[in-house]
Amino acid sequence: MKDALGSVQSVLVLGGGSEIALATVRRLVTGRARTVVLGARDPERVRSEVDELRRAGAATVDAVRFDALETETHGAFVDDVFDRHGDIDLVLVAFGVLGEHAVSETDAEAALAVVRTNFVGAVSVLVPLAARLRRQGHGTIVVLSSVAAERARKSNFVYGASKAGLDAYAQGLGDSLAGTGVHVLVVRPGFVRSKMTAGLRPVPFATTPEGVAEAILDGVRRDAHTVWVPPFLRVVMFALRQLPRPVFRRLEI
Ligand SMILES: NC(=O)c1ccc[n+]([C@@H]2O[C@H](COP(=O)([O-])OP(=O)(O)OC[C@H]3O[C@@H](n4cnc5c(N)ncnc54)[C@H](OP(=O)(O)O)[C@@H]3O)[C@@H](O)[C@H]2O)c1
Repeated sequence: MKDALGSVQSVLVLGGGSEIALATVRRLVTGRARTVVLGARDPERVRSEVDELRRAGAATVDAVRFDALETETHGAFVDDVFDRHGDIDLVLVAFGVLGEHAVSETDAEAALAVVRTNFVGAVSVLVPLAARLRRQGHGTIVVLSSVAAERARKSNFVYGASKAGLDAYAQGLGDSLAGTGVHVLVVRPGFVRSKMTAGLRPVPFATTPEGVAEAILDGVRRDAHTVWVPPFLRVVMFALRQLPRPVFRRLEI
């Protein structure tokens, strides 16, 4: 339960090794968060982050195995986290894969890996999560979407389609949960310099995991339903969305 000052005290991260999520959690722990659960494919790989968060003041930091692709385990995973740690104030749905578009455009298994992780895996875990949060009567779900969700571009439409599905689902979930005390915040970053984009040429106005963390925490404080990072990408993407398809098709983006 948030404390008397409205500060988040407990956080669950799905995609516990995400640089964006970890930047957000570091700031929460520097604030008043005391319980952190990192759901990661390989909990051993977030061991140093667990130690760091403990040193920063978190009383409980738990690294638990979570794989978005193992959808049959998601219900039990959610029950286990809530049964052992009690109320969760903030859930960060931060796992995701970019894939290699040149491969996923022509290889069905590669395309399915992106869609299964980013969309199917997220829906699978959001169903039991939303049910638990609805029951507890409060909490915020932060969903890492992307500007890529706004209009699929030919250079990464598999990833874009997976995020568009996730984004639409999260918006609908937020509308459905209105009035229950549970909020959904959809976050649409542009290019973020993290391990997901390592080796890619940064586009103009690239941001950092810390920049996204700041926008997330501001959105959570305001009970916003959508944040764009940086904010003016909202205008850019609005303009791109209006372009007639023959023009959009010719753009090398
Ligand atoms: N970076 C960007 O430019 C950007 C832009 C817009 C949106 N986003 C979105 O923001 C979110 C966080 O990205 P990030 O920049 O923080 O990238 P990141 O550091 O690469 O984090 C992505 C995380 O997803 C985890 N993951 C991948 N497949 C998984 C699976 N099957 N089950 C569980 N976890 C899985 C990875 O786990 P491992 O540590 O085990 O690999 C990694 O910790 C993602 O949803 C991404 O799509 C990123």
